[in-house]
Amino acid sequence: MYTLQRANKYIEDTRTQVIKDYRHDYHVMAPVGWINDPNGFIYYEGEYHLFYQYYPYKSVWGPMHWGHSKSKDLVNWESAPVALAPDQWYDKDGCFSGTTIEKDGKIYAMYTGHIEGEKPEDIRQVQCIAVSEDGNHFEKVAQNPVLDEDDLPDNAMPQDFRDPKVIQRGEIYYSLIASKFKDGGGQILLYKSSDLLKWEYVSVLLKGEKEEGYMWECPDLFELDGKDVLIISIDGLPTEGNKFSNTHSVLSIIGKMDWEKGIFHREVCEELDYGLDFYAPQTIMDAKQRRVMVSWMQMWGRNIPTDTLEHGWAGAMTLPRELSIKNNSMYQNPVNEISSYFTNHKVKHNIILIDETKEFADISTEVGVLSLEVNTQGSKRFDIEIRGNDGEKTSLTYDNESGSFILDRKQSGIKIIGKEPEALQQRYVHVKPVNHILKLDIYMDRASVEVFINEGEHTMTSTIYPTKTARKVTLRAKGKVEVLQMERHDIEVKS
Ligand code: FRU
Repeated sequence: MYTLQRANKYIEDTRTQVIKDYRHDYHVMAPVGWINDPNGFIYYEGEYHLFYQYYPYKSVWGPMHWGHSKSKDLVNWESAPVALAPDQWYDKDGCFSGTTIEKDGKIYAMYTGHIEGEKPEDIRQVQCIAVSEDGNHFEKVAQNPVLDEDDLPDNAMPQDFRDPKVIQRGEIYYSLIASKFKDGGGQILLYKSSDLLKWEYVSVLLKGEKEEGYMWECPDLFELDGKDVLIISIDGLPTEGNKFSNTHSVLSIIGKMDWEKGIFHREVCEELDYGLDFYAPQTIMDAKQRRVMVSWMQMWGRNIPTDTLEHGWAGAMTLPRELSIKNNSMYQNPVNEISSYFTNHKVKHNIILIDETKEFADISTEVGVLSLEVNTQGSKRFDIEIRGNDGEKTSLTYDNESGSFILDRKQSGIKIIGKEPEALQQRYVHVKPVNHILKLDIYMDRASVEVFINEGEHTMTSTIYPTKTARKVTLRAKGKVEVLQMERHDIEVKS
């Protein structure tokens, strides 16, 4: 039997046994055990609360709890006691993903109760509410489940009905819930309520085509810079050129929400991040009226070195990112609070490389950010190797001939393989330097790299596990490359 008490005691008893080697310095992790999706992200009474899918007892997925982290500034996080345990008949096999909203000074969490059966057909997913008056302790309401299979439209499967995103419009609350339709494929259902307890079905907000994945998960919908944006995490979206190469992909769709009809019209679809480890993001409108997103920095179906090495933990969140739309395209940038943790500043100007390789021992970093402004005119290829040590490196390459930017973790350290072809150790994205200038902000933590290209026009997020302390930075040029500026800050977050 899983209970909050049992989970919290287990964490207290075991958290000091976790092996620190790859523990991040400024990315959210669980104290011990496994995490996946961010859940219930909210700014409440002066603090950010980030909950997450959590199995404390092993560094692999198991019956889901909601873990909890808190922060005043989105960068310095402290871990708080577990918020939800699968302790009721309607969530006995997992408190799956969901979101929170504030009403009458309380936090309402809407999450999915997962109920296993003897056979896969017997699985049921239902929606539940838990209320908190202090942001820490949650009471599951007597009316649970507030939505179940009787509330599904025709052709929606009761086995796959999950990840409610609650939003408020005037006096009405809406919930977007991911669903699978009977002949296979994803759709987003829309429900409404005036009190968050009684819900009524409205519409199919968006239905996927046959070739758009087996299951849609973790929907999010918000207005940004005059547009409506729908974000969906998709299991099994087929690879298209350099897009959707991971088994699970995140799609950002800019479009128009018709609230009268309850239908979303798509305009522009993009993959949200071109790295190897990015899934199930959630956003909030924060205290500063910014749209801030956090995502799981991991991918399903791969080995996770901290699990195989028995370090006692697995999984982390991305750096919180501020979203904006420019030229109908989604931009992401780290929240600016991160800069108050910058130390050891070092900058170099006008480094010219002509068919050569230069190592920069004095500007290296392991936990920090490297920012470059590069004039690519006249270059064929330009590599930035980070987190280097003997024989290991993570390569970031701009190939001027194809106009692509490549992240390669083939030689990053411990090998990560999964259900994708073995060759999936690198991904690329097409970039257009403005007046030949390529701008990069490369955020590194102990076991991760997040690259922000051209002021957030594209991002690439990946985990890496160098086998030794690795901080070397090397630049390599084919043709002529002029690095106008290269700047390093270490990042030091004391909690
Ligand atoms: C997405 C997901 C969600 C589900 C949760 C279970 O990564 O599969 O659809 O609620 O993880 O942990």
